[in-house]
Amino acid sequence: MKVVETEDLSKIYHFGDVEVTALNRVNLDIEEHEFIAVWGPSGSGKSTFCNIIGLLDTPTSGDVKIKGTSVSQLNDHKKSDTRNEYIGFVFQNFNLVPVLSALENVMLPLQVQGVSAAEAAEKAKTLLDEVELSDRMDHRPQKLSGGQQQRVAIARALVTDPLLVIADEPTANLDTQSANLIVNLMRKINETRGAAFVFSTHDDRLLDRVDRKIHLQDGEVLEDVRV
Ligand SMILES: Nc1ncnc2c1ncn2[C@@H]1O[C@H](COP(=O)(O)OP(=O)(O)O)[C@@H](O)[C@H]1O
Ligand SMILES: [Mg+2]
Repeated sequence: MKVVETEDLSKIYHFGDVEVTALNRVNLDIEEHEFIAVWGPSGSGKSTFCNIIGLLDTPTSGDVKIKGTSVSQLNDHKKSDTRNEYIGFVFQNFNLVPVLSALENVMLPLQVQGVSAAEAAEKAKTLLDEVELSDRMDHRPQKLSGGQQQRVAIARALVTDPLLVIADEPTANLDTQSANLIVNLMRKINETRGAAFVFSTHDDRLLDRVDRKIHLQDGEVLEDVRV
């Protein structure tokens, strides 16, 4: 089953007379369970691609299908339903809520869905255990290292059991060792839970563990290889 299909996806920014093509006619399918790196230098279109397939941004032209449903046909309400049901997102800057504990941060997406606090806490604890942070559940983000904060963010992205996790440069603000740990952890969860992962990076040293490498340059797919 295809989780994502893109059709001639383009994104163009205008600055007066100047056009910047952030994505240029990208056609890619993402299958269930795949573990994919989107890599390329700064400005190659990684964030634009992640944001559009994550339904956080809209293309200038072209379309995205999530599980076969064309997103351009959906109103904002249906679009956010689709995002909440199928997609988990991990940000470069972690984006945790500072006044909440690690546990409360991970519970949040479930509580937004109307799940009871007791059930949300139980699921959140299971996820925090999977990211090896059981002993840090009551800590607020500022008491955690960058790598630990990103592990909380990964737990939060997974707590709703998404089909697809999109992580936009999740390791960009981490040291090499923490970055490797994050990639290994995402791979472990990909194998145990079966969610597909797309993570972006400008660091080609992080590509060892992936099934597929999508190389972006100037908004175009230079190479798309399964390994
Ligand atoms: N909101 C925006 N407004 C104008 N230009 C943008 C915006 N976002 C991205 N761009 C431009 O689009 C191109 C791709 O950017 P981006 O997707 O952020 O690349 P990457 O994540 O690989 O660094 C760059 O040239 C960038 O300057
Ligand atoms: Mg980026």
